[in-house]
Amino acid sequence: MAIAQRTRMNDSYHYLPKNVGEIVVRPFSFDFPEDLDPLWVPANPVRSHFFNGVSLTMPYLEPYLVQTSREAAELIDDPRLLEDMKAFDGQESRHFECHRRLNKLLRDNGYPEFAQVEQRLKASYARLSKRSLRTRLAYSAGFETMTNGFTTWMIAKRRSLWRGAERHVTSFWLMHMLEEAEHKTVAFDAYMAYSGKYLPRAFGVLHGSLHVLGYGLIGMFTALKKDGRLRRPGDLARLVREMCVLAWNVAPFLLHGLSPWHNPRDFKDTDWMLEWIAAYKKLPEGELIPLIDTSDPEMPVPF
Ligand SMILES: [Fe+2]
Ligand SMILES: [Fe+2]
Repeated sequence: MAIAQRTRMNDSYHYLPKNVGEIVVRPFSFDFPEDLDPLWVPANPVRSHFFNGVSLTMPYLEPYLVQTSREAAELIDDPRLLEDMKAFDGQESRHFECHRRLNKLLRDNGYPEFAQVEQRLKASYARLSKRSLRTRLAYSAGFETMTNGFTTWMIAKRRSLWRGAERHVTSFWLMHMLEEAEHKTVAFDAYMAYSGKYLPRAFGVLHGSLHVLGYGLIGMFTALKKDGRLRRPGDLARLVREMCVLAWNVAPFLLHGLSPWHNPRDFKDTDWMLEWIAAYKKLPEGELIPLIDTSDPEMPVPF
């Protein structure tokens, strides 16, 4: 089976240097408070629950990304790409472990209904895991294209998005997203090494992004319905506004991903992210990751 698949590898693939020197696997040492308020963005239940909904997807999506990457690694020879894929697996595994802790607090602190959304996610990823390796790699690369949009948006607009927000959750999300940008080339490279065909990759941009966003929205609507917020005109107006802002900031990255010339290396990393990565290197081993001060109008790197 592996030999037959290896013959289908993309012979014209060549590894290109990535934007960061190294993909670092870091522990996510966030000590979330037990009484964490699921409405963690002040006066903004829509934004809180949108990101809570996306968080629900992670303990199902990210193990799926790791499993797909590990299967592809069996067929890939380039040692530089294999090293990147190993680091990708390590980072994604730490992400979903931390999301799992956060999601339990969300369920325990007011939203047991999230368990039903998670059941649907589990079933959906079980179905997806039966698709061909090419489809799964394209899905992974497509989803990772969207995360670049999220990283750029969430860091560049941090001053308005997270002002006064709960510090643990904000710090966790931003650290997750900057690691997404750090490993942004890996799923794309794995797809290019395996197949490289344009149309399945373009389909993967829509498949990976809309599937995750769709379940994130199901989580959000579940919580907003429980809170009785889908009947109030003010809340509905905010919902429309938040979704327009999301689309405005993230859609350009999906459009870029749909181009035949797309390469995640084209996306410039934010200075804040590079500063955070440099500062992390000086953090003594075993120390908790410092939290972002969301009351500071600049929200500087917290090291
Ligand atoms: Fe991740
Ligand atoms: Fe990722």
